[in-house]
Amino acid sequence: MSKTPPVQTNMKGILLAGGSGTRLYPMTLAASKQLLPVYDKPMIYYPLTTLMLAGIRDIMIISTPADLPQFKRLLGDGSQFGVRFEYREQPSPDGIAQAFLIAGDWIEGCPCALVLGDNLIFADHLSVLLRAAATRPKGATVFAYQVRDPERYGVVSFDETGKALSVEEKPAYPASNWAITGLYFYDNRVAEFARQVRPSARGELEITDLNRFYLEEGSLHVDRLSRGCAWLDAGLPESLMQAGQFVHTIQARQGMLVGSPAEVAFRMGYIDADALRAHAAKMGKTELGRMLRELADQG
Ligand code: G1P
Repeated sequence: MSKTPPVQTNMKGILLAGGSGTRLYPMTLAASKQLLPVYDKPMIYYPLTTLMLAGIRDIMIISTPADLPQFKRLLGDGSQFGVRFEYREQPSPDGIAQAFLIAGDWIEGCPCALVLGDNLIFADHLSVLLRAAATRPKGATVFAYQVRDPERYGVVSFDETGKALSVEEKPAYPASNWAITGLYFYDNRVAEFARQVRPSARGELEITDLNRFYLEEGSLHVDRLSRGCAWLDAGLPESLMQAGQFVHTIQARQGMLVGSPAEVAFRMGYIDADALRAHAAKMGKTELGRMLRELADQG
């Protein structure tokens, strides 16, 4: 990744890091899932860098009342990464679309993206896709990825021209094997649409129902991620380990950092070499610290 000029967008971003992480018990009995390590960084760093790569600098972190203080401790006000963080509680896990109700007044009629705190997306040309999604004037953009077990996810089907036909949440009989990833971009009507979403059979405000508003309007853009991309959700012990191994493999083999907000901030021009060096110093003698120092020295 070379240095990239920041994209002009007034889009805000929500990082949803709630939930009780029951599928990762006992690891999540006393710690938030999104703070567990994915190789050498806390999980939340990865989706955070996704929002930053889209050019988004106003970011709200939503988590449980118990976990929110830990996120504040880890991330602060965002100045270390040249961005602004806001924090808000989700008192009970009533669904992903609830994030837009919690953040409604903060969004202030701006377009807004949302990323789930356990979703890791890696792709060579990812920032190009993200910038396109962040600057699209109307509608919503989601990303679809072919999986073996679509029934675990939101699923999108397409007609023969490639246009999205249906979106369904965890269907027993999936209409395709295209899962919708946990990264969503919406225009400035998102809070208004979210207020119209009603609880599903499992009692949640489903993000898939919000997406259906856009689909029915004909303004849901679905970008299909190709085979060169990796989408990992770190919600199970096995996928958590696989995600860590993936990050390790790329960093060790290619010497490139994955999921480092400091690196992204530097490359996007949000922080200068001195700020990057200061951040690297805080990382002490770690490999991450060394890689960040090298980057600062290269300029
Ligand atoms: C959520 C969404 C689902 C999406 C998935 C991506 O599911 O409801 O549509 O495909 O995230 O990770 P959950 O992980 O909350 O079961």
